[in-house]
Amino acid sequence: MARKPIIAGNWKMNMTRAEATALIEALKPLVKDATSDVVICVPYTDIDVAVKLCAGSNIKVGAENVAWAEKGAFTGEISADMLAELGTEYVIIGHSERRQYFGETDATVNARLKTALGKGLKPIVCVGETLDQREKNRTKTVIRKQVQLGLEGISAEDMASVIIAYEPVWAIGTGKTATSEQAEETIKFIRGVIAKMFDRKLANKVRIQYGGSMNPKNVKELMAMPDIDGGLIGGASLKAPDFSQVVNFDK
Ligand code: 13P
Repeated sequence: MARKPIIAGNWKMNMTRAEATALIEALKPLVKDATSDVVICVPYTDIDVAVKLCAGSNIKVGAENVAWAEKGAFTGEISADMLAELGTEYVIIGHSERRQYFGETDATVNARLKTALGKGLKPIVCVGETLDQREKNRTKTVIRKQVQLGLEGISAEDMASVIIAYEPVWAIGTGKTATSEQAEETIKFIRGVIAKMFDRKLANKVRIQYGGSMNPKNVKELMAMPDIDGGLIGGASLKAPDFSQVVNFDK
């Protein structure tokens, strides 16, 4: 069975509510005939606006993180219930910027993932190596560990709603995209790790995105690779013409 591509924007810490409104209004008509799933992952303060504006359209709304605890004394965190109450459908977990700047580890990724799944959110779990790790030929070791520890204890049933995003850290926001061969090689490797943890049949169903300077120019080539099932888009998701061209890569 073919995997349906999923193109997701990650707005990161951009877009006030006014800016979000303008972007979504511009985006809706441009992506309405998409053959892929279309998602925008937005700052917490934009979620209610985004959900309201995207209602009745083919754009789904996601958050950029979620607390591992259900509730309680966790100042500054946002719970899965709070996200679900607003109509959030997806959530990014373990983005490299969270790993790099906010102390995210494979253990916290795993804890957040379990909580998200328990509350019916569809997680986009990010993995990726740094430039130093790639240059030292440690890419596969690093990715294997991130996938194994990140997905530890997840049931096969839950795995059906998990999306993985392979984002080489050196390609994020740098304009340096992994070549389609590099991206394919690592994404195929990730599928193999999932096959070992679960089974091949399930691994063949899991959608794995590429992320890192994906844009209207390189999307076609990346999406032509057999194991790449979509993209997680940063910079190019902040402009309606660019993001819609990525979404409509097959048109
Ligand atoms: P850029 O597309 O800006 O490189 O960001 C990628 C990313 O981090 C998406 O999560």
